[in-house]
Amino acid sequence: MKVDILLGLQWGDEGKGKVVDVLTPRYDVVARFQGGPNAGHTLEFGGQKYVLRSIPSGIFQGDKVNIIGNGVVLDPALFKAEAEALEASGHPLRERLHISKKAHLILPTHRLLDAAYEAAKGDAKVGTTGKGIGPTYTDKVSRNGLRVGDILHRFDEKYAAAKARHEQILKGLDYAYDLAGLEREWMEGIEYLKQFHLVDSEQEVNDLLASGKSVLCEGAQGTMLDIDFGSYPFVTSSNTVSAGACTGLGVAPNRVGEVYGIFKAYCTRVGAGPFPTELTDEVGERIGAIGHEFGAVTGRKRRCGWIDLVALRYSVMINGVTKLIMMKSDVLDTFDTIKACVAYRIDGEEVEHFPYDITEGVEPIYAELPGWQTDMSAMRSEDEFPEEFNNYLSFLEDQLGVPVQIVSVGPDREQTVERYQEE
Ligand code: GDP
Ligand code: IMO
Ligand code: MG
Repeated sequence: MKVDILLGLQWGDEGKGKVVDVLTPRYDVVARFQGGPNAGHTLEFGGQKYVLRSIPSGIFQGDKVNIIGNGVVLDPALFKAEAEALEASGHPLRERLHISKKAHLILPTHRLLDAAYEAAKGDAKVGTTGKGIGPTYTDKVSRNGLRVGDILHRFDEKYAAAKARHEQILKGLDYAYDLAGLEREWMEGIEYLKQFHLVDSEQEVNDLLASGKSVLCEGAQGTMLDIDFGSYPFVTSSNTVSAGACTGLGVAPNRVGEVYGIFKAYCTRVGAGPFPTELTDEVGERIGAIGHEFGAVTGRKRRCGWIDLVALRYSVMINGVTKLIMMKSDVLDTFDTIKACVAYRIDGEEVEHFPYDITEGVEPIYAELPGWQTDMSAMRSEDEFPEEFNNYLSFLEDQLGVPVQIVSVGPDREQTVERYQEE
C-alpha cells in the first residue's frame, strides 16, 4: 500500500485536524511526521470541540493505530496533559498510540531558550509559539538532542548534561528564569511516557504497508512555514512539505500516493513575517471575526487576508499536490465580492512565480469574483452549491491545476462536502 499525505499549503491552521478526522475511517493508520506542540489541530463532532497538539487527529475514529513519528519533537509535560485530558473525556489511547523512539524530546530548557532567543531578537522576533521547537530541532541537527528512546536507559546523566549545556547558554544570554516548576512537570511527563508503546516506528510503518495497511500522514504547520521553502526566517524549524513525511516517518518517496493539499478560501498567518495579501482594514477584521481567527494554541489573533494564488501555486508544486481541499468557504458566504491574488507586482514587473524575498515591495494583483451570498453551512452535496461558488472553485482549479476534492462549510465533522468519487 501507499502512504497518503495531508498537509497545509498556507501559513498553518488551514483545518488539517478536521479533515484528518474526516478521512481517518478510510485508513488503518494515522501518523504525524514533523512539528510538535506548536501545532493546534481542532476537531468538532457531537457538539464537542477538541484541540490536539502532539497526538494525531485520527485518535477519535475507532481503534486505528496512531503514530507519532521520528520527525516529531515531543514535550512530555504537554503530552501528558493532552493525553490525560483525552482519556478523562472517554477516549482511551494508550493501546492505540505508538511513539517513535527516535522522536526528539523538548526539554524545559528548550522552552526557556526559545523565549530567550526571541527576547534577544527584539523587533526582529519570529513570534514563535514559545514551545521550544527551534532550540529542540537545533539540538537534533547539531547532534546534541535527547530522544524518546533515551528515557529507557541512563536517562538522568544524559538529561543533566543537556541541561547544563542549556543553562550555560541561558547565562550567556543573561536570561533570568525559574526552572524548578517546569522541570518537575516535565519529569512527571517522562515517567508517564514510559507507559506508552515506544517503538521503532519506521519499521512498524513499513511492516504495516507491506501487510496491506493504509497510512495517512498528518502534516503540521503549513508549506509557507517550511524551514527551506517558507518565508525564511519567519518559519518553523521543520520540513512541513510532503518530503518531510519521508524523513519524518521513514517511508521511501516511491511509497507516497495521494498528496492532499489543504487551504482556506482566504488566508491567515499568526506571528511575525511577510504576508503579501494581508488586509489591515475592516475587510480583514470581518474575515477574522466571522472565521473566529484566533490561535488554537496561543489564542493570538490571526492576521487575515485574501487568498494568495502565487504562494499556493508554489506550494502545490513543492508538495506534488494531487488533490485540493478547500476549508472555511462558509466564512465568505456574506461577501459580495471575493478577491484572489493571481500575481505580484515587484519593481513595476508582474511576477507569477513565488519570488526569493517577499519581505517588501510586493504588491498583490487581484482578480475579483462575485460572491455567492448564500449560507452554505448546511450544504452536504455539491449539487446544492450556488453558481458563483462553483465559478470560484473552477477559477481556483484553473489557477492551481489540481482538482478540489473536498469543500468544508463549517467546523463540524459533518460539514464536509466531497466533490469527486474516489477512484
Ligand atoms: P489546523 O491547525 O490546520 O488543524 O487548523 P486549526 O484547528 O488551528 O484552525 C482551524 C479552525 O477553523 C478551527 O477552529 C476549526 O474548528 C475551524 N474550521 C475548520 N474547518 C472549518 C470550516 O469549514 N468552516 C469554519 N467556519 N470553521 C472551520
Ligand atoms: P498548525 O499545525 C500556525 C508559526 C508561529 C511562528 C512560526 C515559528 O496548528 O497549523 P515555532 O513555535 O514553530 O518556532 O513558531 O511558526 N506556527 C504556526 N502558525 N499554525 C501552526 O501550527 C503553527 N506552528 C508554528 O506562529 O510564526
Ligand atoms: Mg492550528
